[in-house]
Amino acid sequence: MAIWLPDLAGRRGPKYLQIVQAMAEDIASGDLPAETRLPPHRELAWQLGLSPNTTSRAYAEGTRRALLRGEVGRGTFVRPAGSRGEDGHAGDLRRSSSGPIDLSRNLPLPGLAEPHIRRVLTGIGQGGGLPALLDYQTDMDLSRHTGAGTRWLAQCGIEAPLDEVTVTNGAQHGLLCTLMALLRPGDLLLVEALSYVPVRAMAATLGLNLRAVEMDAEGICPESLDSICKEAAPKALYFMPTLQTPTTTTLSAERRQAIAGIARRHGLTLIEDDVFGLLKPDRPAPVATLAPERTVYVTSVSKCIAPGLRVGYLRAPRDIGPALRHAVNLSTWMTPPVTSEIAARLILDGTASRLADEQRAAAAQRQRLARRILKDHGYASDPHGLHIWLPLPGGWHADHFCSAAGQRGVLVTPGSSFAMRSGDDPAAIRICLSHEPGEERLREGLAVIGALLAQPPIAGKMIV
Ligand SMILES: Cc1ncc(COP(=O)(O)O)c(C=O)c1O
Repeated sequence: MAIWLPDLAGRRGPKYLQIVQAMAEDIASGDLPAETRLPPHRELAWQLGLSPNTTSRAYAEGTRRALLRGEVGRGTFVRPAGSRGEDGHAGDLRRSSSGPIDLSRNLPLPGLAEPHIRRVLTGIGQGGGLPALLDYQTDMDLSRHTGAGTRWLAQCGIEAPLDEVTVTNGAQHGLLCTLMALLRPGDLLLVEALSYVPVRAMAATLGLNLRAVEMDAEGICPESLDSICKEAAPKALYFMPTLQTPTTTTLSAERRQAIAGIARRHGLTLIEDDVFGLLKPDRPAPVATLAPERTVYVTSVSKCIAPGLRVGYLRAPRDIGPALRHAVNLSTWMTPPVTSEIAARLILDGTASRLADEQRAAAAQRQRLARRILKDHGYASDPHGLHIWLPLPGGWHADHFCSAAGQRGVLVTPGSSFAMRSGDDPAAIRICLSHEPGEERLREGLAVIGALLAQPPIAGKMIV
């Protein structure tokens, strides 16, 4: 077969993603059959008139999406459909014990919740309440689920009556609903300079202007927030005071107080994302307790129980409640009663709280493992966090580093992915410790990262 060349005509967006899109289409149509060996990325780059970094990134992304498989010394191959999870499972989201070692996803450690969810599913199946859970619900039916939400929020340190709580399909949906409820096209939304990636796309979709607030080693800078508020009248700030993504920082009590004060002075709404809060119970009090009248508190069960449940909870000042519930209603009619019921049972019988403890202990164990392997390299982390943030030694560009790691079968995320300001390109990577089910592959992946870190790039040349 002639060498595979993606057809990029008429495609938009970053070139490496255009290549991946063309690749996915050619695989789906059969033009690029399973087990086809792709041209070396340098050759493809030459054929397309692109830089080797772009094609290398495309192959790394294709590998991440489980379209491709790299074999050391042999090259890159198209994965057969069955091994891509097209048999009714969750495709490339599935955690695999073969293929690339995935340190790019911030998921909880797998397996802990499974036996409990099996038990609850059996209970739901055998109980008399299933027919009601399979129907459209009324507000009254859902109050049991909102009630479970108040219990979960109480464990997060937020005491809230039922009418301040809204159930969502996870924290991401909670954030989207909050933006839909509070902001209008043209409004200014502030974010940390490095932040949770989907917020950028949400702002673009809703026509919001986005502006980055400076950060330092301790997290978001109150001075920067204050000066933007004085000059630009922003509507809201979205931020992660605890175990920030990607930098891992947790804001001190003083900074939390300062931010609450600034919000009060300038009429700013705070959107506090605390999905990781329960992993760090010794954190200072949530900002929502310092300025409850100005704060929407966003959380979910994803990081402590299971992200696949898609259950989250919002606590918001009462006057915002109707707009929030309208946004939930508009976007999903109602959150799925079956999964809300699963979460409710686990919360109400105390299992969820024990699972949070287990996640915290498991995360601590993985952090110790990372420390043993990467101890010679400075990085930011938290003993109970699920990821680390590693500034790269001089000479490394984060994209090049991630491509080099991808070529060695290890997936990590470059700092630029989290940049909210175009042009920001921190020379740092995020390494997630909890997506890989087994410690052995994590150890192997971290060893690859450690070896690359010990091998500074030659000026002007990329190591692949
Ligand atoms: C900081 C942050 N916020 C929100 C979310 C979304 O969580 P959920 O699964 O509850 O939608 C994530 C998921 O990775 C996250 O890292």
